[in-house]
Amino acid sequence: MDETDGSGVSRPEASHVVDLHSVRVAYGEEPALRGIDLQITAGEQIAVMGPSGCGKSTLLHVLAGVLEADDGTLCVLGEDLGALREKDRAQLRLARMGMVFQFGDLIGELTLRENLALPLQLLGGKPARIGPEVESMLDRLDLGDVADRRAAQVSGGQAQRAAVGRALIHQPALLLADEPTGALDTVAADTVMEALMDTVTEQGTTLVVVTHDNRVAAHLDRLVSMRDGELVG
Ligand SMILES: Nc1ncnc2c1ncn2[C@@H]1O[C@H](COP(=O)(O)OP(=O)(O)OP(=O)(O)O)[C@@H](O)[C@H]1O
Ligand SMILES: [Mg+2]
Repeated sequence: MDETDGSGVSRPEASHVVDLHSVRVAYGEEPALRGIDLQITAGEQIAVMGPSGCGKSTLLHVLAGVLEADDGTLCVLGEDLGALREKDRAQLRLARMGMVFQFGDLIGELTLRENLALPLQLLGGKPARIGPEVESMLDRLDLGDVADRRAAQVSGGQAQRAAVGRALIHQPALLLADEPTGALDTVAADTVMEALMDTVTEQGTTLVVVTHDNRVAAHLDRLVSMRDGELVG
């Protein structure tokens, strides 16, 4: 739904967190995204599904600004990603996005507590404020008992919950998750998704989750299907 400016002329809705038009990406000669149009409203929670190789991870990487589009326009969090310098894209990512991957990507040598503190430290937070925020996130994710263990020494489900906590600790506006439960059994996957959905809903985070799991998709507002580099349906 577009807003009008009083003259009846519609303009892009300010609350669009993601606004992509005809976005194309190729790896060399091989097209991976063949003209993606996608609008996502603030606070919306969407699932991206589709067969292996259809371009789901590529789409997330473009949204995160780690991969540049070859063509089209992409506005994310009100910023024209194509016009930003690398340094500014990195800052936007650090301050206003969170990312969760299939295998967590925690730093194995650091404890879970230290992993969760990291984004706040990188953003220049004061230690006196970081401590309580980390403790509260650890509690919410039921990780208090294992908070002092190194990330390499916890279960897959615990590591993924910590990855969710690390991605959300700075209350990003946009969370991008690439098969966050893909490496887990059903029980562990459910606890991770519950933790993720509870936190995202409470924080009002806009969520894009790539998943193969219909049960994960069932938690979300909208399903976007991809085939061969295009959105379908
Ligand atoms: N770095 C790369 N260099 C060249 N081709 C790539 C690269 N990354 C992905 N591709 C190709 O681009 C297409 C889309 O890949 P992508 O990783 O986005 O798929 P996906 O939908 O995430 O698949 P999966 O479900 O297996 O994770 C595939 O054909 C893939 O082989
Ligand atoms: Mg992928």
